[in-house]
Amino acid sequence: MDLCRFHYCFSRIIFFSGIVFPVMVASIGVNYGQIANNLPLPENVVPLVKSIGATKVKLYDADPRVLQAFANTGVEFIVGLGNDLLGKMKDVDKAQTWVKTNVQAYLPATKISSIFVGNEVLTFNDTTLTGCLVPAMQSVHTALVNLGLDKQVSVTTAHSLAILETSYPPSSGAFRRDLTSCITPILNFHAKTGSPFLINAYPYFAYKASPKQVSLDFVLFQQNQGIIDPSTNLHYDNMLFAQIDAVYAALAALGYKKLPVHISETGWPSKGDEDEAGATPDNAKKYNGNLMKLMSQKKGTPMKPDSDLNIYVFAMFNENMKPGPTSERNYGLFKPDGTPVYSLGIALSNGTFSNTTSFGGSSGSSYTPASSQGSSSTGYLTISSANTKRYPLVGPERVKENKEAASESRKGKIFQCRNNFKGVLGLSMKSLIVLKRWTHNSIRV
Ligand SMILES: *[C@@H]1O[C@H](CO)[C@@H](O)[C@H](O)[C@H]1NC(C)=O
Ligand SMILES: *[C@@H]1O[C@H](CO)[C@@H](O)[C@H](O)[C@H]1NC(C)=O
Ligand SMILES: *[C@@H]1O[C@H](CO)[C@@H](O)[C@H](O)[C@H]1NC(C)=O
Repeated sequence: MDLCRFHYCFSRIIFFSGIVFPVMVASIGVNYGQIANNLPLPENVVPLVKSIGATKVKLYDADPRVLQAFANTGVEFIVGLGNDLLGKMKDVDKAQTWVKTNVQAYLPATKISSIFVGNEVLTFNDTTLTGCLVPAMQSVHTALVNLGLDKQVSVTTAHSLAILETSYPPSSGAFRRDLTSCITPILNFHAKTGSPFLINAYPYFAYKASPKQVSLDFVLFQQNQGIIDPSTNLHYDNMLFAQIDAVYAALAALGYKKLPVHISETGWPSKGDEDEAGATPDNAKKYNGNLMKLMSQKKGTPMKPDSDLNIYVFAMFNENMKPGPTSERNYGLFKPDGTPVYSLGIALSNGTFSNTTSFGGSSGSSYTPASSQGSSSTGYLTISSANTKRYPLVGPERVKENKEAASESRKGKIFQCRNNFKGVLGLSMKSLIVLKRWTHNSIRV
């Protein structure tokens, strides 16, 4: 009875407000990158984070100003330990000093729940750096144990989706073979310490690389026919889920079926260069708005329907000092002056709305995406991203390094890194025709 009544009220609310997605937003995470010289003071970022209903923030360092500003706000943090520090961290004493200064000092007022050690280390193809990764993760974990913090703070690292060699169909997901020997110890570490596997995944890259072949509705979570994984018969109606399940499949193939996968970055730029198809405010709004709506529904992916999505949107702000194509500086939900780049229309958990604009251009009592599906089956697919050089850790040195990386990439070195076509091995010719696989060859710096 009560339930029915609730249902009734509920639909009335939806009807009268015209809001597509009310109730509460599941825990949304957001990346707070700071490669910019014009961002608001961290204390002024607190209300912005709350205004989008985000309860989790990922930092690329352990910026003391930010960690202080967010004390007693209930917001949960993942802090970053930069690639440039990995070498030093082999030494447990140094790791312990780092943890004391950058984590313990802020607990418990600031909720730091995780440290990500190194960002996209494996896809730098730098054997020295890669060799430092697991020892660094282990030292940091040991330091946490020594300080009695290991139960509340987990240790992980974030990967680029380009660690996959095969990503389509999702069930055939596999890691790059040359990385197996470095991935296995990382997975062992996760299994032992109970920390999640983090992946940065950008359907945008696939679209940007092949705008004619990749269906925009499929990448923007709009209504579309989707694709069927021929081995599992699972239906995918968006590329991000296919990417996530490809990671689950790759983990399962190495025997780590139960490791949770969290999406440490995903997003869509609101602006790009002329050759960057799809980088518009409307598409960014659809991508991020629809994504947040999906998260609020607490649905999992087709392969893991019962696992909540754990996603960190990239990013809080447009960052004016990031090198690379224009899109790189335009992933933000907010402009540096604190105004939204576009309206997300997010329902806040306290029952108010940050802005009543509805999601994805639709309005009404049910979710009806604006655009109808296009020609579908040819309109698909790629899942893989092969971005190599990546979001750096903050600081002038990193910015400099990144500029070098960007110029290197312009010379063509880095652009050579792209997923090959082995991803389609195992498919029949017919499936090959239907399920074309496209790779993206862009970078996110
Ligand atoms: C709900 O949260 C928003 C954003 O933090 C705030 O502006 C608003 O005042 C809150 N409303 C209530 C009723 O607490
Ligand atoms: C919603 O956001 C749009 C665009 O940012 C803005 O023009 C509008 O005034 C906002 N509405 C409210 C009620 O805040
Ligand atoms: C890294 O190694 C892989 C596999 O050998 C290769 O495909 C890729 O192009 C390399 N990436 C870079 C940035 O050198």
